[in-house]
Amino acid sequence: RTLVICKPDAVERGLVGEIIARFERRNLRIVALELRQVDEATAAEHYAEHADKPFYGELLAFITRSPAVVLAVEGPEDTWKVVRNTVGATKPAEAAPGTIRGDLGIEFTENLVHGSDSAESAARELGIWFPGLAATS
Ligand code: RTP
Ligand code: MG
Repeated sequence: RTLVICKPDAVERGLVGEIIARFERRNLRIVALELRQVDEATAAEHYAEHADKPFYGELLAFITRSPAVVLAVEGPEDTWKVVRNTVGATKPAEAAPGTIRGDLGIEFTENLVHGSDSAESAARELGIWFPGLAATS
């Protein structure tokens, strides 16, 4: 299981259905899903690894500016990797066509989706966003 966030830009642009459909077509199963106005504390915990980066303030402002759709998805193996490959490179302008960011975005940092970047990150982040859900299937 891994964490996916359809970021505020995805909700604002009405792309949540399109994005989730891509994960569903990939045959990943949704095991939790919620539309949430992300609060400052949750955003800070989620992006703790970036606390020292110059873009941290901008990142927190972005993720908390309007509601996001947060979901947990489940797959047979290395689900976090499948999700990251489906999402594409961090900068939409560099993301491959066929990926979510490569097909639906162009601007940075408005990159539409978050996906956990390792099995450890997935477990940690699922604990933050869906504490009632076990991290492994
Ligand atoms: P994410 O965590 O959101 O799935 O994105 P990612 O792994 O592809 O990229 P990461 O390096 O973890 O960065 C997290 C988010 O911070 C914003 N960012 N801005 N201005 C900048 O240089 C910069 N670098 C990163 C992006 O929204 C990125 O997704
Ligand atoms: Mg990341």
